[in-house]
Amino acid sequence: MAEVELRNVGQFFRRSGGALVEAVADVSLVIRSHEFVCLIGPSGCGKTTLLQLVAGLTPASQGQISVDGAAIAGPSPERGLVFQRDSVFPWMRTIDNVSYGLKCRGVEKTKRIEIARQYLRQVGLGDVERSWPRELSGGMLKRVAVATVFANSPRVLLMDEPFAALDYVTKLQLHQLLLTLWEQHRPTVLFVTHDVDEAMLLADRIVVMKEGRVVDDRKITLARRRTVESLALPEAVAHKEVLLRHLGLGELVQDRTAPL
Ligand SMILES: Nc1ncnc2c1ncn2[C@@H]1O[C@H](COP(=O)(O)OP(=O)(O)O)[C@@H](O)[C@H]1O
Ligand SMILES: [Mg+2]
Repeated sequence: MAEVELRNVGQFFRRSGGALVEAVADVSLVIRSHEFVCLIGPSGCGKTTLLQLVAGLTPASQGQISVDGAAIAGPSPERGLVFQRDSVFPWMRTIDNVSYGLKCRGVEKTKRIEIARQYLRQVGLGDVERSWPRELSGGMLKRVAVATVFANSPRVLLMDEPFAALDYVTKLQLHQLLLTLWEQHRPTVLFVTHDVDEAMLLADRIVVMKEGRVVDDRKITLARRRTVESLALPEAVAHKEVLLRHLGLGELVQDRTAPL
């Protein structure tokens, strides 16, 4: 169980030069236990800032963030993070990367290696546990990052455009892998993306931000596992149209009121 609640959360930054930026403005949001929420919105709308607030990396200027009713006080292993840039230490072999969080929490060596191996096998990297990160492809590094975060059994999983830099096929493979792990372990997920199809494939709910505020919040009830075909269903197309408009891509959406 891990319900995340944001109540009237705001975040100000002072830009070099002195201007005050309101990156997140009065956001109230409840993410239920086990829910997979995708956060979408144009570049600069405050997605990363919001995720970092939930991670506890920065204290919020305003409002409260709690997990199961307890206010967060800084980062915690119960809230796992994956960023777009790799969350992998270049000076550690794969197995040591995956087991590092367990080591920090005092898990004994045989046990932590066993857990790390199990996750590495599950992400299809059983045969590169002794490799260095520089020997792995971008997709493999992402698999390492996913294995690492799940090895720490987070109750909340925070992902900031984790697959944005990957090629199309690798990205689709990682979606399936992430869904398999999520179905097994059921962490509450907040996943930032600006990819509408990615959000439609993954999310129980899509929250849209614009200029620091939540401007839309929609449940996606398409049956799981979703496929390319599910994304062509009328429900999916209707959601996508609205989402694309929110992203300022209204011209890509057919105007049904216009004469042919
Ligand atoms: N550390 C910072 N100092 C000053 N301004 C920041 C800082 N971090 C983010 N911002 C500003 O806050 C706004 C939201 O940024 P961000 O959360 O990174 O957006 P997104 O992830 O949606 O692209 C932007 O205007 C950005 O310039
Ligand atoms: Mg960002």
